[in-house]
Order: sequence, then C-alpha cells, then structure tokens
Amino acid sequence: MNNKKCILAYSGGMDSTISIAWIIKEYNLDVITLTLDLGGGPELDGIKEKAKDAGAIDSLIWDVRDEFVNEYVFKGLKARALYEGKYPLSTALGRPLMAKKLVEAARLVGASSIAHGCTGKGNDQVRFDSSIMTLSAHSDPINIIAPAREWGMTRDEEKKYAQKSGIELREVGNNQKVYSIDRNLWGQAIEGEDLEDTWVIPPEDAYSWTSPMDKTPDNHQDLIINFDQGTPTAMNEEKIGGVKIIENLNNIAGNHGVGRIDHVENRLVGIKSREIYETPGAIVLHTALNALETMCLSKEQQRVKQNLSQIYADLVYDGKWFTELRANIDSFMNDVLKYTSGKVKIRLFKGSVTVIGIQSNYSLYDFGLATYSSDDNFDHSAATGFIDIYSLSSRTQAKKQTYKDAR
Ligand code: ARG
Repeated sequence: MNNKKCILAYSGGMDSTISIAWIIKEYNLDVITLTLDLGGGPELDGIKEKAKDAGAIDSLIWDVRDEFVNEYVFKGLKARALYEGKYPLSTALGRPLMAKKLVEAARLVGASSIAHGCTGKGNDQVRFDSSIMTLSAHSDPINIIAPAREWGMTRDEEKKYAQKSGIELREVGNNQKVYSIDRNLWGQAIEGEDLEDTWVIPPEDAYSWTSPMDKTPDNHQDLIINFDQGTPTAMNEEKIGGVKIIENLNNIAGNHGVGRIDHVENRLVGIKSREIYETPGAIVLHTALNALETMCLSKEQQRVKQNLSQIYADLVYDGKWFTELRANIDSFMNDVLKYTSGKVKIRLFKGSVTVIGIQSNYSLYDFGLATYSSDDNFDHSAATGFIDIYSLSSRTQAKKQTYKDAR
C-alpha cells in the first residue's frame, strides 16, 4: 500500500471506472472513491464492489440529497435562476456541493489529491477545479487530477484500456448509443451522439424522465404547491419535505411530458453546445413561484429581482458558487421573498404547466382596486390629475423640441 491517497469522484460509469486503474498506474496513488447521491436515481447497486474490482482501496457513498435541495437547489429556485432563460442549472448547482464533499472526504482520509472525471471541453472541470481550489485556499493545496482531460483517449481506446486492465464494462453494449448523461434530483442533462447535429430531432431514446406527447394522459391533472417565504413546503397541502416534493413532481409532471428543454447554450469555455434537459420538477416549481411572486412583490421588487436572477444564473453556471457575490444575492433573495408565502394551483396537460390559481395572505392584489364591478373603490376622478402631472415633462419637452413637428 502507498501512503499517498487520492479521492476520486465516482459515478460507476465507464470513464470513472477506468480512472481508478489509470490513477494507480500513472500517479502511483491509493484510490478511494466517493459516490455522492444527489437524487435522481444514481445507480448505487454494486458500486462499492465495482470500485474495489477496479483497484480502489476503499469506497464511500454519501447521501447528500437534503443538503443539495436545501442549500443549493432551493437557493437557485428562490433566485429564479434559469441560465439563458431556459436551463434550471441542475448540473451546475450540483457541482459546488460535490466539490465541497470531495474536499471534506480528502481531509477525512488524509488525501492530498482529488480526481474527477471531467473532460477538457466542458464547464464542469472549471466548476470542480475552481471550487476545490477556493475551498482549500486557506489550507494545504490539493492536487487535482482529471484523467479524462489528461489521457487523451477516444471512446474506443477507453474500451480497450478497460479490457487491458481487466475491467468489465456492463454498460457498453456492441453498437449501443452512449449519451453523455448527468443527472440529479433537479434534472438530467443529455449530450452527444445524434444530438450533436442541431438539425436532428432528439430521438425518443434520449429521454427517460418525460413521456412523449402521444403517450401522455388525455386528462389533465391539477396540483397545489405551497410556499413559505419562497421555499416550497408542501404539495396538495401535505408537508412532505423538499426532496419528496421534487421527486413527486418529476414523476407526475414527467408523465405529462412537462420539462423537456432543447437548448444551444454558451459554455464557459467558449463553445456553443446543444443540450437536452429533462427537468419536470424544476419547471413546475419555477412556474409556480413566479406566479406567487407576481402577487406578493411590488413591481419594483420584481424588476430588481429579475435583473439579479440573470446575474445569479451566470454565477452558478460559470462555477462561481463559492463567492461573496453569490452569498450577497442570496441574502437579497431571502429578504425580498419574506412575504412570498401562499399557494399556487397548477394544471399539467400535454407537455404544459399552467397556473390556474394563486392565493396568499400577503397578496398585493386588491379586488376592490382591480374590479370593474359595482364593488369598485378606485377613485377614477383622481386619474386625470395624476395623468396631468405624469405627462407634464413630456408635454413641456414636446412643446419646445421633438414633437413640435410630429415625427
Ligand atoms: N451543459 C450543462 C452544464 O454545463 C450540463 C453538462 C452536463 N454534462 C453532461 N454530460 N451532459 O451545466
């Protein structure tokens, strides 16, 4: 046994499994794998055996679903963070937590190296490396190993390397497609194979969480989501906890074909990539919270919040979770959502989620002001004075300048 150790982020997939043998050979380190359960059904069965068969001296499995939902996912939701207006950042929100746990595990077992399976083309290497370096900035530096970025093997060479190292790869069939998939409770991202041609319609076999439109139920389904200060607390008035709420919504909304996203996105490393996402729960919760905000926030709060949402989404996407600015914006979000409590009724039908009711004790919607019925208590006569002053500056300017000769 060597005394130098390496913690490897281990999914049980092909790259990850080959990495164990590769690190032992190339770096002469003892490998301890860390598998993190962020929900969304990672395959945990037999994962310890698989890691040990490939040469790992130990294998850790940590369930971090609650921490993921409470400390990452719900912060992203409250910030209404959608990258480029579309992607709820499922992978991007998972990476900082994974980096944090890798650093914790390294400290726990006394490892001075951390390895992850990212390639040199993606966002995830940036998120992992910068988070690990930031989190260890005040202590001994951690050596980062990224086998897939370093080894320069093609997919076929990887398969050969596995054979040579005596690693059995159950998941690789003969001509079977191997999409690159990253999944957690907040969604799954699917890339590669036929999806790399932006003219190709994503084949049904790329999807696994959402039903194709011709297989969704012919009847709609209505649900209630309860929120407390912007955080989802219950479904249909039942307090089941964040993890369960998202799990249930993934199943129910996914069955109605909700949550498919097909997006050509701007990666941090300058590449445009076509990405397919399935995020039924995230889409439902974003839609519902947005509706509740329209009732509970002032117009100005909504506008400022929206501007910060975009900045927040970029920070998360760009691997800047562990920054003061991200924490500053979280403080704003917590404060601005103080009165965003209540419930939202939504309807799921044929791929869509529609808001069909909103209720809150703190609602700024005032029936007496809004109604056109005899209950109207808005002072109509006050409007003329208001408009007189409101239009004063534009009338003054028009008289002297621009609108003298109407353009
Ligand atoms: N493009 C997404 C992101 O950068 C997802 C990447 C996940 N990786 C994958 N193998 N599909 O957050």
